[in-house]
Amino acid sequence: METKLKALREQVEAAISSVQSKEELSAFWQQFLSKKGRIQDLMKVLGTVPKEERPAMGKLINEFKEQVSARYEEAAQKLEELELEALNRSEQVDITLPSRKRAPGALHPITITKNQMIDVFAGMGFKIFEGPEIEDDDHNFTRLNVAKNHPARDTQDTFYIAEDILLRTHTSPGQIRVMDSEKPPIKVLVPGRVFRSDSDATHSPMFHQMEGLVVDRKITLCDLQGMLDEFSRKIFGDSVKTRLRPSYFPFTEPSVEVDVSCFECGGAGCSLCKGTGWIEVLGGGIVHQKVLENCGIDPKEYSGLAFGIGIERIAMLKYGINNIGLLYENDLRFLKQFKD
Ligand code: DAH
Repeated sequence: METKLKALREQVEAAISSVQSKEELSAFWQQFLSKKGRIQDLMKVLGTVPKEERPAMGKLINEFKEQVSARYEEAAQKLEELELEALNRSEQVDITLPSRKRAPGALHPITITKNQMIDVFAGMGFKIFEGPEIEDDDHNFTRLNVAKNHPARDTQDTFYIAEDILLRTHTSPGQIRVMDSEKPPIKVLVPGRVFRSDSDATHSPMFHQMEGLVVDRKITLCDLQGMLDEFSRKIFGDSVKTRLRPSYFPFTEPSVEVDVSCFECGGAGCSLCKGTGWIEVLGGGIVHQKVLENCGIDPKEYSGLAFGIGIERIAMLKYGINNIGLLYENDLRFLKQFKD
């Protein structure tokens, strides 16, 4: 029996010191420590040992079993430590490496321009209103004093969706929607997308406008000029002057076109202002009495001013962009040049 024990002890030592993995460790346990293992076999042999030797032998086997169990535990722990070390090694991060550069996003030049314009008018007390891009004929034309057979309809190449439903050709229908839902005093800006079947270096089928509408008692052309003067100086620079030229829009009477003195040449004449010293930037006027009436506002009590500004036009002038298409191509080489 003792020789058996000794042989087994040697086998255990050899086996445990060659264990490299959890699978091998489990095989070791099966071989020696399980119910069908070699140590259990010794217990069975114990029955054949003379009675008087049995207690001592039993004790020896038990002690042996405890030693083997301890060896097993030891090996298990060591394996665990090795595994953890390997994991740490594989997940090691070199904190001395320089970080990857992140390219921060930036606002689109149209958004930058729009925000600057909103800032200027918000400073004068304007609120923002946004109307729908899909409009009906009534809001886009008829109630703005552009009747069905009105020649001014031909100047705006309209995208119709159904007979009386269209993509708004300007932000002016926003005026009607505001006056329908609010009583004077009114002071709103309507920024948004507009659509016209038109495309060349300075026109795009989709572009942006910003409408302004003020309705109150005793609003005059002077108020319009004062506001647009302030707007032009904030957007194009303090030295810029404005002038109003008579024009025609069905929804304003009188109507004006607003020019700013050329900020490139200071008014002397250059290629930007085509030698005139002035650059046209927007249209506006005094809200036509019929438009006020169409919205249930009494023109004897109230008057209004309105204006419409093309946001792309302002952005192109400000940044010296000569082709409107550049604003929609999303070419990063172009877009990266703009910072708010
Ligand atoms: N809606 C006009 C256009 O798109 C621009 C405009 C002119 C708006 C005069 C106005 C205005 O509010 O009073 O061409």
